[in-house]
Amino acid sequence: MLTQAITAQPSLEFAADVRAGLTKPQKELLSKYLYDDVGSALFEVISVLPEYGLTRADERVLRHNAYDIVERLPLPLMVAELGSGSGKKTRWLLKALARRQHTAYHPIEISPTALAMCKRELGDIDCISIVGFEREYLDGLAEVAARRKNNQHLLVLFLGSTIGNFDRPAGIEFLKSIRRSLCPGDSLLLGTDLLKPIPDLLDAYDDALGVTAAFNRNLLVRINRELDGDFVLEQFQHLAKFNPRARSVEMHLLSTREQTVTIPAAGFSVRFQAGETIWTESSHKYSRDEIFQLARDTGFRCEAQWVDTEWPFAESLLVAE
Ligand code: AVJ
Repeated sequence: MLTQAITAQPSLEFAADVRAGLTKPQKELLSKYLYDDVGSALFEVISVLPEYGLTRADERVLRHNAYDIVERLPLPLMVAELGSGSGKKTRWLLKALARRQHTAYHPIEISPTALAMCKRELGDIDCISIVGFEREYLDGLAEVAARRKNNQHLLVLFLGSTIGNFDRPAGIEFLKSIRRSLCPGDSLLLGTDLLKPIPDLLDAYDDALGVTAAFNRNLLVRINRELDGDFVLEQFQHLAKFNPRARSVEMHLLSTREQTVTIPAAGFSVRFQAGETIWTESSHKYSRDEIFQLARDTGFRCEAQWVDTEWPFAESLLVAE
């Protein structure tokens, strides 16, 4: 059974975040809000687009190295996954683990749809029991950690380069927060997309079919639906750009004309200049060495790293010190 814990009045929080973001000088919306039902489904499509190699690379590295990864883990252990998505790539790890022990697997997700999908995808594996948490990552992780029995280790999965959505300082803080829920010897398997030629990166976030554009613009559709906003979709364009200082790909929504948008359920109106953007997401890209340093800076050591050669992407096994 999935454990459901609905946070109180999520739409009030959404309204407050939208208002705070759209009243900043550089307007912004938090990328976690991209993942409503439509956004999550669109991301599944993005992950099979030829231009977007990230998800397939992640899955390949796990598929090819699952036994090697599991060999290095202390048993018995329980597994928590931050942002399970469809759960497809986790399958390889769970199957490898299931050969060695009966395993409790706890996906942590804010999207109930993604949780349900994950359970459907992975529910058939023998010797794996699934109890999901509909929570923010760190809240969910604290709850999972509290369930552990005395000699049980914890393996945290943070795959898919979700860490890339944090800027570098926030990424460090986030890993430190994870570390605080862990005991020495526990592990974190971290997936990170690696730096690659800029044209490849831009194509990955601005595909020919326009799926990423739809994924981005869906955020405005969501505001219109959930907060009664009056964004005119045709007047906002998807934009992907590389930020060389941050080493990230940024997604924006560009207002093609001067206009005013009203969002009644958030209690405000906002003016846009022609060409002004709303910054909706950043995907930071890392180097292999940087991940070793990141581990040291956050209370871990990087025990091993596996890299996909087709689409540079690293899976790093970090052990809590
Ligand atoms: C799921 C956060 C890893 O940043 O590459 C895909 C989301 N955004 N295309 C990423 C995303 C645009 C993706 N992550």
